[in-house]
Amino acid sequence: MDETQEIREKLDLVNFISEYLPLKKAGRNFKSNCPFHNENTPSFVVSPERQIWHCFGCGKGGDIFTFLMEYESMEFPEALRVLAKKAGVTLRESSFKQGQYSEKEKIYSINSLALKFFHYLLTEHKAGLFALKYLTEQRKVTKASINTFEIGFSPNTGTALSDFLIKKKDYTKQDLILAGIATERGGHVYDFFKNRLMFPLFDHRGNVTGFSGRSLTDDDTPKYINTKETPVYHKGSMFFGLNSAKDEIKQKQDVIIVEGEFDAISLFQENIKNVVAIKGTALTESQVSLLARFTSKVTLCLDQDTAGFEATRRSLEILEKKGLTSDIIVLNEAKDPDEAIKANPQQFKKSVKEKHGVYDFMIQRFVSSNDIDSAQGKKAITDNLLPLFANIQNEIIKEHYLKQLSKVLDVTFDSLAKELEKHQNKVQEEKIVVPLKNKRGEREVIEEFTLALILQSKNPKEIIDGYKIFFKSYVFETGSLGKLFRMLIEFIETQTKFDSKLFSKILPIELMPAFDTCSLYPLSKYGLDETNEVKYRQEITKKIARLSEYHQKDQAKKQ
Ligand code: CTP
Ligand code: MN
Repeated sequence: MDETQEIREKLDLVNFISEYLPLKKAGRNFKSNCPFHNENTPSFVVSPERQIWHCFGCGKGGDIFTFLMEYESMEFPEALRVLAKKAGVTLRESSFKQGQYSEKEKIYSINSLALKFFHYLLTEHKAGLFALKYLTEQRKVTKASINTFEIGFSPNTGTALSDFLIKKKDYTKQDLILAGIATERGGHVYDFFKNRLMFPLFDHRGNVTGFSGRSLTDDDTPKYINTKETPVYHKGSMFFGLNSAKDEIKQKQDVIIVEGEFDAISLFQENIKNVVAIKGTALTESQVSLLARFTSKVTLCLDQDTAGFEATRRSLEILEKKGLTSDIIVLNEAKDPDEAIKANPQQFKKSVKEKHGVYDFMIQRFVSSNDIDSAQGKKAITDNLLPLFANIQNEIIKEHYLKQLSKVLDVTFDSLAKELEKHQNKVQEEKIVVPLKNKRGEREVIEEFTLALILQSKNPKEIIDGYKIFFKSYVFETGSLGKLFRMLIEFIETQTKFDSKLFSKILPIELMPAFDTCSLYPLSKYGLDETNEVKYRQEITKKIARLSEYHQKDQAKKQ
């Protein structure tokens, strides 16, 4: 048997996808909001019988391999290795042939060697002694944290790492440049990081995607430099610390978002382990999507300066858009969480417990920085707050904050609501409308819907038998559906109970897409599932009546 086939049979797609998404039973299938596009009603369907998935909103679909590749942006060889391991399937030597390893895999291996090299220098070598002292004495980072985060030191020689990887590990110059750990000047390669504390940047699966290096000198070199964008490192779609924090985040259903590496490490050391760092930018959409896999709630704890505040403000829209709720931790005096928790761990932990709703914080912030008694002051406050409120997805929460604001500013709820409307229209206009793939006729849609109702019912045979006369004469307008239906009838006659897996085996390949669509059609979106059998039956009767009308018109034309 083919290895991929063996893996497919050993792993259950529903179980597998459940590790990523909350799947709900819907008739014969399972459904969820689609992870690949924004939506509020589920169009993403998984069939346990067919072991396939499909999104009726964005059109993506496939099997367990394509799901993992799509979800984790993996290439096939990596997905194959991950799933083989999970399934307990040993891959044949040939699957690992040179060149089959993707570019990404090569970069992970180089980065992983670089990490070990840096970590060794910091913890065992005299070259790293100064850096180690700075880390443990000045920044109070413990040995345990150095090991947990695998912190390292890049030496000042300029070529030590490159030499090691080329001479001892047989990598080429190009490999090192590709991974972003070396640069080329005048035909020579040089290490990209020199004389810096090295923080490895892991993705949530534990691959080393890049590094962030903190300067150890007071000169005018930048305090932090990061690996430039590579095929595996994208600053805007990762977090520092997520790999070590993800279990805790899942368990607590909350994540504290800080700016820098030291902020995250200091909280971790004080046993606050559900913490990630965005590395000094506002949250991006892909970062929020990544977090949404682990929790539906976040707690923002960015720096206390203007940049931190602006980053907080800009993050709110994206958090709302992805349906996450947010609180904020307000630091007293300290410039960032690292300083705050070191100054007074007890106080910091108290402010974690007493966190504020982020919109309460925003109201307070703008009210205290403007004159609430003057018309201009009120306008300034609402100009800042209403665009934020316009993004709130939940109407109850939105109303709550509008009411609060109307009290504070002493303006009517109605005038606030009117102003809000203007912002909301703006938000609507900015949304990109995804055009439907191709417009289909009503009859084709009904035919597909009817077949879906039949195929996903508890007992398809019984339904077909119940409408025998109709189905004997009805001619499908959609060719593929007609063929599929004829094969279904023939098949069902020989069976006592409909077995969809068996049926799929006898289907010609060209009918598979139609069959998959009907088997996966998100019926629950229309309020139809097996828990309400009466409604389900009524729907079938309605659709068949509609098809009968079409059929009679056809007959009339022929005469
Ligand atoms: N950062 C970065 N690139 C820069 C500047 C900053 O990636 N050129 C990221 C770093 O992760 C840094 C975070 O943004 O930790 C916040 O920056 P800043 O507040 O300037 O640094 P601190 O965290 O206060 O730095 P430290 O505690 O090391 O002094
Ligand atoms: Mn900072």
